Amino acid sequence: MEMMLRNMFQALGKSRSANRLAKKYGLRFGAARFVAGETIKQSIDAVRALNADGRIATLDHLGEFVFSEAEARESADMCIQTLDAIATSGVKSNLSLKMTSLGLDISKELCMSNMRRILDRARQYGNFVRIDMEDYAHCQISLDIYRELRQEYDNVGIVIQAYLYRTVQDIEDLNTLKANLRLVKGAYKESPQVAFPEKKDVDDNYKKIIEMHLLNGNYTAVASHDEAIINYTKQLVKAKGIAKDRFEFQMLYGICEELQKQLVAEGYRVRVYVPYGVDWFGYFMRRLAERPANVWFVLKNMFK
Ligand code: FDA
Repeated sequence: MEMMLRNMFQALGKSRSANRLAKKYGLRFGAARFVAGETIKQSIDAVRALNADGRIATLDHLGEFVFSEAEARESADMCIQTLDAIATSGVKSNLSLKMTSLGLDISKELCMSNMRRILDRARQYGNFVRIDMEDYAHCQISLDIYRELRQEYDNVGIVIQAYLYRTVQDIEDLNTLKANLRLVKGAYKESPQVAFPEKKDVDDNYKKIIEMHLLNGNYTAVASHDEAIINYTKQLVKAKGIAKDRFEFQMLYGICEELQKQLVAEGYRVRVYVPYGVDWFGYFMRRLAERPANVWFVLKNMFK
């Protein structure tokens, strides 16, 4: 049953018509728990509230299904406006983005030119941009683009997913770039040909890459709500004498709030991933697929 729900949410998240329909009706079905709002102003207000209790943020303008050059440029413009809003409001946040929304599926050149516009603006403000990692089909091209951009920019980082078999090798390769990485378990439905099917193997690989990247001396964002992973990281940094400014914990907006606050109280850097925008449906479906128990939460909200 759980697997069926997972597959259903994954499929719905990819459906263009479901996304279009959802967009028409605005943030519904409890999506507001996971998505900060539809406008830049709402997202900045959400970040301000997080900053008030010591949490920092990374803002993500949600944009899925980009098919034309004009849509890709528009999406890059939204990223730039987000950076402008962060700077003018003075909130503590950087930016996360998905390269498919900048035209990655149209051409590498288009995506790179949009990335450069965004990175130039971020550099002007002394801000940082994180490239989210999407499904396996986009993994190699995303890493190739990151490598090229990293030669020109210090203010760019990427995400690595623990569920992929290739990941340990990627961590070794990225060490030569002193890459600033966000390490995650991985959110997409992947084939056992490329990704560990068993949770235990994913968790073991996750611990391994956290240790490798930290011991290589690279800035590491451990993005997980899993207390076992968080405790493992705490023990590791303590045992190896790694300073608290060499890593951060990251969690998603609306998930494990108490744990986020507790880590701040313990003196750790905690960054919350704050998504916003009218294209909220795909993101919302990925969160439901991760934890089908959230369905009850959705059902309750449907009748409010
Ligand atoms: P796990 O799935 O084992 O969950 C541990 C516990 O966390 C659960 O028992 C539950 O209590 C809570 N939890 C987890 N997910 C929840 C949810 N949706 N709703 C409610 N509670 C939940 N993935 C990717 O492929 N590319 C990317 O770029 C990113 N970026 C990213 C940024 C940040 C800041 C985070 C925190 C995560 C991502 N992810 C991601 C998603 C990631 O790959 C993974 O799917 C989720 O974080 C869930 O895995 P956990 O490590 O939290 O552990």
